Amino acid sequence: MNNLKESLSKALASAPGMDALDPSSLAELFDTPPSPEMGDIAIACFKLSKTLRKSPVVIASDLAAYLNENPVDGIEKAENAGGYLNLFVSDRYRVSILRAILDAGADFGKNETGKGKTMVIDYSSPNIAKRFHIGHLGTTIIGNSIKLLHRFSGYSCVGINYLGDWGTQYGKLVVAFKHWGNENKIREIGIDELNRLYVLFGTESEKDPGLLDEARAEFNKLETGDEENLRLWRMFKEISLKEYMKTYDLLGIEFDSFNGESFYSDKMPAVVEELRAKGLLKLDDGASIVDLSEYDMPPCLILKRDGSSLYPTRDIAAALWRKKEYNFDKCIYVTSAGQSLHFAQWFKVIGLMGYDWEDQLVHVPYGTFSINGEKIASRTGNVVLLDDLFRDAVEKAGAIIDEKNPDLEDRDSVAEAVGIGAVIFNSLLSNRIKDVDFNWDEALNFEGNTGPYAQYSYARACSILRKDPEELPFPGDPALCPEEKELITVLSAFPEKVLRAVKEYEPSVITRFALDVCQSFNRFYNSCPIRTAGPDEKAVRLGLCRAVKNILGSALRLIGLKTPEKI
Ligand code: ARG
Repeated sequence: MNNLKESLSKALASAPGMDALDPSSLAELFDTPPSPEMGDIAIACFKLSKTLRKSPVVIASDLAAYLNENPVDGIEKAENAGGYLNLFVSDRYRVSILRAILDAGADFGKNETGKGKTMVIDYSSPNIAKRFHIGHLGTTIIGNSIKLLHRFSGYSCVGINYLGDWGTQYGKLVVAFKHWGNENKIREIGIDELNRLYVLFGTESEKDPGLLDEARAEFNKLETGDEENLRLWRMFKEISLKEYMKTYDLLGIEFDSFNGESFYSDKMPAVVEELRAKGLLKLDDGASIVDLSEYDMPPCLILKRDGSSLYPTRDIAAALWRKKEYNFDKCIYVTSAGQSLHFAQWFKVIGLMGYDWEDQLVHVPYGTFSINGEKIASRTGNVVLLDDLFRDAVEKAGAIIDEKNPDLEDRDSVAEAVGIGAVIFNSLLSNRIKDVDFNWDEALNFEGNTGPYAQYSYARACSILRKDPEELPFPGDPALCPEEKELITVLSAFPEKVLRAVKEYEPSVITRFALDVCQSFNRFYNSCPIRTAGPDEKAVRLGLCRAVKNILGSALRLIGLKTPEKI
C-alpha cells in the first residue's frame, strides 16, 4: 500500500489549487476509514483547511472530482463524505499486492536498513552457579527476538551472553565450598548443589558476618590469580554452562560469544588507568568513583575500597573491547528495568571519557514476570525455575494435543514447540516495559490471543495447501469479498511492522501483528470456501493461504517460536 500512498500524495498535490500542499506531509494524513463501506483510505480534510483556506467539504469534493477525472492507478473511486476524502482501492491493485507478496516469498518483510552495519546484543547473561529462573526469561526471549529482527533488517548481528561470572559472589561461593562443600557431590548433582551452597552462605553469613570478609578475601585471591580458587571457579562455571545450554537448546537460541564478566578482569586495570589519566576518578571514602552529580545521577562506582572492580567497571571495559573488536554501529543491552540507572551511569562515563559513540549504546529495559499473580521471591532460593516452567508448559500442551489430535505424528516435538511457544508468545504480547503475568489457562488456550492459537492458524494454512498444492493463475479482473480484501491489507503491513519493531526494540509489535493475521485469516477461512470455489476465486484464496503461511511463519519465527506444519 505504501507505493499507492506515494503516488496518491503526488497526484493530490498536483490537483488545481493544491500547490500549497507538500506531498510528504500529505502522506502523513492518510488514515483508514471506520468501516470498509466507506473505502480503504481516508483523508480528514479539516487538517488541510488552514493551509488551503477552504472548508473541509470543498476540499474533499474538489479532490474527489479531480481524482475521478484523473485516476491514479489502483484507486477505483474517490468520494467526499462530510469533509473526508474517502478512497476505494481497486481489487486489481489488491491482487497485484498479493502477487508481489508471493513473489518475494520468504523475503517479504525484510528491509535493508542495517545493510553494512553491525549490531552487538548483550542478552540473557545469567549469573553462574544459579539456576536459570523466570527473572531471566525476559532478557533471553526479548533479546533473541531483537537480534532476529535486526538480522531480518540486514544487520550483521553478534549475540553475546555476558555471563555473570565475576565478582564478590564467587568469593562467597568459594567460602561456602571450603566450609561445607564437596566436589564429588557438586559434580554429581550439578548446579542445584552450587545453588544450595550459595543460599547456605546467605543464611550463615547473617549469623556470622565474618564470613563476608572471608568472601571478599577469597574473591581478591581470585582476582590476583590464586590457582586453587581459579580451579574452583572454572568448575562452577563449567557446571553452570552445561545446565544453561540445555535451556538454550530447548529455546533454539544461539550465541556468538560467551565472553562474560571474567573475560574482562585483565582488561580492567587499563580502564581504571585511562579514567584516572582523563581526570575522571575521584576518591570517596576510599572508593574510586566518577562523579555524575552534574547529570543528576549518583556517582558511578569504579573501585571498591579494597581495590576490587565493580559491575560498572566491567561493563565499561567490555564496551571498549567490543567497540574495538566488532566496530559496532549499536550495542544493545537487554535487562530488567531495575538496571536502568546502572546503564545510564556508565553510558555517561563513556561519553565523559571522550568517546563519540556513547549514543550507540542502547539499554532496552523490560518489566517484571510473575506466575498466576505471584511475584518471584529471589535470594531465598524460592524462585520459579525456567526449566520447571517449560516442563510444565510442554506437559500441559501435550495433554491438550492428546485430547484434540491423539494420532498426531511427532507428538513430542509438537508439544515442545507449542508449550514453549505459549510461554514466549505470552511474554512478548504486551509492550516489554509492562509487567507480564502467566496464567496457564490463558496462555495455553487454543482460542485466545496465544501462541497455540497462532501456531494452530499457521498449521491450518499448511493443511489447506497440502490438500491443494498447485498454484493457479490469478484472474485479470478479480472481484474480492470483504474478508479477502481485509486479509491482503493486514498482510501487506508486515514490512512496516518489522521496521517499527526494530526502531522501538519492541518484539510485541510482531506478536500483535501475528494475531491480526490470524484473526483476519480465520475470518476469511470461515466465510470463503476454497475447495468448492470456481478457478478464479480458488486461485486468489490459495494465494492468500500461501501468503499467510509465509508471513505468519516469518512473524512467529521472528519472536522465537517454532512453526510445526501439523498440530
Ligand atoms: N548478569 C546480569 C544479571 O543477571 C545481567 C548482565 C547484563 N549485561 C551487562 N552488560 N551488564 O543481572
